[in-house]
Amino acid sequence: MEVVIVPDATAGGELIAEAIASLLSRKPDALLGVATGSTPLPIYRALAAKVAAGAVDASRARICQLDEYVGLPVGHPESYRSVVLREVVEPLGLSEASFMGPDGSAEDVQAACEAYDRALAEAGGVDLQLLGIGTDGHIGFNEPCSSLASRTRIKTLTEQTRVDNARFFDDIDQVPHHVITQGIGTILDARHPILLATGEGKAEAVAQTVEGPVASIVPASALQLHPHATVVVDEAAASKLK
Ligand code: F6R
Repeated sequence: MEVVIVPDATAGGELIAEAIASLLSRKPDALLGVATGSTPLPIYRALAAKVAAGAVDASRARICQLDEYVGLPVGHPESYRSVVLREVVEPLGLSEASFMGPDGSAEDVQAACEAYDRALAEAGGVDLQLLGIGTDGHIGFNEPCSSLASRTRIKTLTEQTRVDNARFFDDIDQVPHHVITQGIGTILDARHPILLATGEGKAEAVAQTVEGPVASIVPASALQLHPHATVVVDEAAASKLK
């Protein structure tokens, strides 16, 4: 696992946008796995700026979602499909056709999860998977004690994660209880997972991820098993590393 410490979130975003630009120059139709939440926004802004300046050609890039709430109405502004369209697909000038994600409104959620894992494999697998980390060490929405071999499936959010995500909704009662998330095994299939963590609130989870044992109680620690995983942390998030 490669750990890179950067001064702040903006620098982290710039560094990872550079890595994406480099991938797209080698593989213009790369499949980019994207996370939602606050952490990756500097990456998306830096990448969109490069595209707007003509420094990167992202026109053939393909985008796939890491996770999705279950039960939000189609088109809800906080569904992760809407967020990814707004923050990634549109700013990069891509069409909806270049984008795929799990169907959080499916009647048969289990079938939708299996279909999504199949679709990722049929698309040739994820080339670069962006990840954030929860204060409890989750990646995607693989909450503590998730199987390290798990595939895309439905999960129940912990109360802590619902509280953390309540800022995107009018009140906590609107935060869904369930999500579809790529499993830890699914995430580890990506050729290059890159986790970005910023801010002091992530420092404990980062320390356990990087320096603790590989353990399902800290799902992100599974990245230690990947031959080519990168963890980018700002100084605040690195503050509990030895
Ligand atoms: C979101 C996701 C989550 C977030 C994590 C951190 O798609 O998979 O694992 O990355 O909850 O969220 P922020 O970045 O908002 O602190």
